[in-house]
Amino acid sequence: MADSDIERRWWKEAVVYQIYPRSFNDTDGDGVGDIPGIVEKVDYLDDLGVDVVWLCPVYESPNADNGYDIADYRSIMDEFGTMADWERLLAALHDRDIRLIMDLVVNHTSDEHEWFLKSRAGDDEYEDFYWWREGRDAEAVDWRATEGPDGEAPPNAWRSYFGGPAWAYDDEREEWYLHLFDRKQPDLNWEHERVREEVFELMEWWFEKGIDGFRMDVINLISKPDGLPNDPDDPFGGAMTGPTNGPRVHEFLSEMNDRVLDRDYLTVGEMLGPEIPMEHARRYLNPDEDGLSMLFHFEHMLLDRGDDIWERSEWSLSELKAVFNRWDEGLAEEGWNSLYLNNHDQPRMVSRFGDDGEYRRESAKVLATLLHTLRGTPYVYQGEELGMTNYPFESLDEFRDVDTLNPLRNAIEDGEVESFDAVKEAIRANSRDNARTPMQWSAEENAGFTEGEPWIGVNPNHEEINVAAERADPDSVWHYYRDLIALREEYDVVVYGDYEPLFPEDDAVWAYTRTLATADGEERLVVVLNFTDAEVAVGLPDDVPREGTLVLGNYADDEMDDDAELATGDLLLQPWEARVYHQSA
Ligand code: GLC
Repeated sequence: MADSDIERRWWKEAVVYQIYPRSFNDTDGDGVGDIPGIVEKVDYLDDLGVDVVWLCPVYESPNADNGYDIADYRSIMDEFGTMADWERLLAALHDRDIRLIMDLVVNHTSDEHEWFLKSRAGDDEYEDFYWWREGRDAEAVDWRATEGPDGEAPPNAWRSYFGGPAWAYDDEREEWYLHLFDRKQPDLNWEHERVREEVFELMEWWFEKGIDGFRMDVINLISKPDGLPNDPDDPFGGAMTGPTNGPRVHEFLSEMNDRVLDRDYLTVGEMLGPEIPMEHARRYLNPDEDGLSMLFHFEHMLLDRGDDIWERSEWSLSELKAVFNRWDEGLAEEGWNSLYLNNHDQPRMVSRFGDDGEYRRESAKVLATLLHTLRGTPYVYQGEELGMTNYPFESLDEFRDVDTLNPLRNAIEDGEVESFDAVKEAIRANSRDNARTPMQWSAEENAGFTEGEPWIGVNPNHEEINVAAERADPDSVWHYYRDLIALREEYDVVVYGDYEPLFPEDDAVWAYTRTLATADGEERLVVVLNFTDAEVAVGLPDDVPREGTLVLGNYADDEMDDDAELATGDLLLQPWEARVYHQSA
């Protein structure tokens, strides 16, 4: 891409840091992180060099799903602090030129939200704010419901993402309501104009407070298919594929775009589903349609997952590359990619795609290099910059997450799974709780996260892996992240260069170039990453220019040797070695 064709945006040049407040830093000793705890760490974020903070939900919530069940969009959860604390946080971030994006969770609310209470009570104005339906004749559909009146089955066969039917029976209204997530997370009815109005107003309200954008939770679920039909091919899996990218989703989002969005905000929509068709993706991102800056898809996150939380599947490097290659190509001309390998819903990337044993440090750096040198905006999840790993869960009572506990308990009850022990390895690998163990600040008790009893276990490896130790060690993962972030600032090609994969089928090495036409010629990166614990020889194709200098790597080799290797085109990579060369011609 030539320099003059580039659509420059601050959010393309930025690195985003995601904070899960419950697990970040606790200042009042209740074992739960809080907003004053984040304020205390803004200098930490500034030193790391990130440009944006994405704050997971901090609104009032009964915490059935750790804040993703919102009871009041305009107030702060007591456990996390007050609105004044939040305002201090915003000011402290803005003082350091760090922007703030909030989590917008509007596919559903909490069942304790005022709208739901009124809807359940049949209040005229709110009765259609949610999806209320009569049950079906249980005999006719051969379904023995575990709740609701005798002889009644839920209105359709959709399953909740958290296991079990997607419908709950309400004794007060004597009808069923839809919840694609927990029963305490009823889905809002976006067909209702007033629901949309309310959402746009609350977004405006936060923009007026000075935020810089939103991450939009499961936003491709807001439009439900007409008549809420079952998926004919999969009567029990209907909820998994049925309601994504529904018939009116672009209409609703473009209305949001017209009403409240601005191209200068960072907006990133979370898009559930095994695959997001590229035509949809482009519409989500088209400034004249839905106008989101970016989206999160799940294609790489599903590679090693089985259908259920207690199942795993084999993945290969070429499959992982294929996902990123397809997305880079798909959005090369229109749209922009987000890049993430971790978040609060995913196990730790080092345990998953790297090596959390002997090569933890090296493999964390390989993955970091990938994240920061592909084309797109990198999202760093708290603790990732330390190379934090999965937690060694030993028993079911160590888990906190509904998405682990609900499905597993149901499966054990139904006899589908024998016991926790029978599926321990997979649950351990898959659980969202891996991401939610406290941030490791120091080698002290509870990793310096809290002086109280932490709400979830602290990883015992905090004695070795922690902020204090890594900041003191120039060769740490933390310093490497800092260097990568600085590289993005230094070279335009890191942000805007075209991406060209070199050996797409190779299962050991991920190599690519990034190229940007400049006023005086061309600027290029050559990135070579070894994804194995063995030495690997790489022969670069002839058309990759041979001149360049190593600007970042994770082995303390002689840089001159590395440059000499580039000149010959024959590279010998150490286990989990990462090299980034820069060329300008
Ligand atoms: C998103 C969130 C997740 C939450 C779910 C329901 O996937 O990231 O944490 O449980 O939506 O709101």
